[in-house]
Amino acid sequence: MYYLNFLTQVHERLQPRNYLEVGIRNGGSLALSRCRSVAIDPAYSITAELNAPVSLFRTSSDEYFSREDPLLPTGGQPFDLAFIDGLHLFEFALRDLINAERHASSRSMIIFDDVLPRTIDEAARVRHTTAWTGDVYSILGVIAKYRPELSVITIGTLPTGLLMITGLDPSSTVLSDHYTEILEEFRHPDPQPVPQYVLDRLTIASPEKVLDSGLLELLAEADPSITPDELRPRLTSLIESTLGRAYAPGRGIAS
Ligand SMILES: C[S@@+](CC[C@H](N)C(=O)[O-])C[C@H]1O[C@@H](n2cnc3c(N)ncnc32)[C@H](O)[C@@H]1O
Repeated sequence: MYYLNFLTQVHERLQPRNYLEVGIRNGGSLALSRCRSVAIDPAYSITAELNAPVSLFRTSSDEYFSREDPLLPTGGQPFDLAFIDGLHLFEFALRDLINAERHASSRSMIIFDDVLPRTIDEAARVRHTTAWTGDVYSILGVIAKYRPELSVITIGTLPTGLLMITGLDPSSTVLSDHYTEILEEFRHPDPQPVPQYVLDRLTIASPEKVLDSGLLELLAEADPSITPDELRPRLTSLIESTLGRAYAPGRGIAS
């Protein structure tokens, strides 16, 4: 399944009230949103027809999230869904994750693009291929080590996979507290040491199974005031029973 077809279903079933997109380019993925949206890209050139009230920011995600109130366009409401597809360098993706979670709620979902490079060349930090994932894949190892309580599902969408993260905790400072040591451990010079389990696409969930799992409906129907501790056991039991134990928190692809 092509990633935009999968994301179409996510928007329809999750019914987010507020959507964040980092990395817009021509608006292909932004056009899927039907709700209040905040979209950030220093060099967007939108050709797609948009279908939602969108606040566009021609800036980097770092600059946007350094502003006094990044939730100003949503009237202070958290993002129920965030799609992170900006600069494909590990440290940028990590900061996008930290910022997206900080402005989410416990029932939100963050989706990363490009976590499954098909070759070592495609994962290079210094781009030299047409299709480029960069080293965003390193986010998998970071979550396995520092945030094993998160539910993480790597999805085999075309062309280069998606990473779905739930069980979020906007009050968590673990990643920002360990930012420097995380970079030391997980940022590597080229050629990238892409783990074999990533290249072989082991422990990848099929997009169809994820859509049929009931996960999106569970989040859509969750009480907005639910805490991470209340939601996580429900996520774990649903994911284990529909997708298998390999996807349970702490047991993901990189553990
Ligand atoms: C792969 S494209 C996005 C494609 C789009 N999400 C889609 O699926 O149709 C990546 C985009 O990230 C943008 N970008 C680069 N650096 C960025 C940054 N620091 N913050 C936000 N966006 C960035 C680029 O300008 C580019 O348009």
